Amino acid sequence: FTPQILAGKRVLITAGPTFEAIDPVRGITNRSSGKMGYAIAQAAQQAGAEVTLVSGPVALPTPRGVQRVDVQSARDMLAAAEAAAQHADLFIATAAVADWRPANAAAQKIKKQASATTPQLEFVENPDILATIAATPRARSGQLYCVGFAAESDNLVEYASAKRKRKGIPLLVGNIGPNTFGRDDNELTLFDDQGHKRLPRASKAELARQLLREIVQRLPG
Ligand code: C5P
Repeated sequence: FTPQILAGKRVLITAGPTFEAIDPVRGITNRSSGKMGYAIAQAAQQAGAEVTLVSGPVALPTPRGVQRVDVQSARDMLAAAEAAAQHADLFIATAAVADWRPANAAAQKIKKQASATTPQLEFVENPDILATIAATPRARSGQLYCVGFAAESDNLVEYASAKRKRKGIPLLVGNIGPNTFGRDDNELTLFDDQGHKRLPRASKAELARQLLREIVQRLPG
């Protein structure tokens, strides 16, 4: 039996990496496993929420009862997240979105023989999904509560507090990057306008439940 602390709530979660095409067979991605976001999706569903999980390419099964929307690029993820955010009460951004994408993805496979030189990649910045959704009227008026994640390698307190303000969100969850990627456990620090609070090392499933309890206490109304 799980306490139904999210009964009647619609929760949107982004998870996993994005994949940014170079050509039809190549691309750029990162090592996010998606495990933390998937654990939160499962915990939210078990707590009574209607969950939409917008996921980049990962090797994880869909949590039972969760509506999963598969995407590849940051721009695809933004479009899917914006659509679901229109009806959501809570948005938790765990995705490791690529900061940049190749400026001009080739329509055909780039051939090794076609040129005497190596290809030069030019990048453009991707949209910030969390900051974009946090700036919408529903988020700004408190109807949609937005939570971000930050993986830092050092100076967590300083960087995470600054990031929370920069993104315009009420709650940011920090973790130390190298200690979380691909693992089944993690440790989290929650940053809000009151300061910060640590959730000590535990399984991602347990931390997901604890995090949702912390979020529910902060929901307006
Ligand atoms: O700035 P940084 O990438 O460290 O911010 C991390 C937080 O912002 C995460 O919650 C991540 O899902 C979100 N994010 C996003 N879109 C981006 C970059 C980050 O939603 N383009």
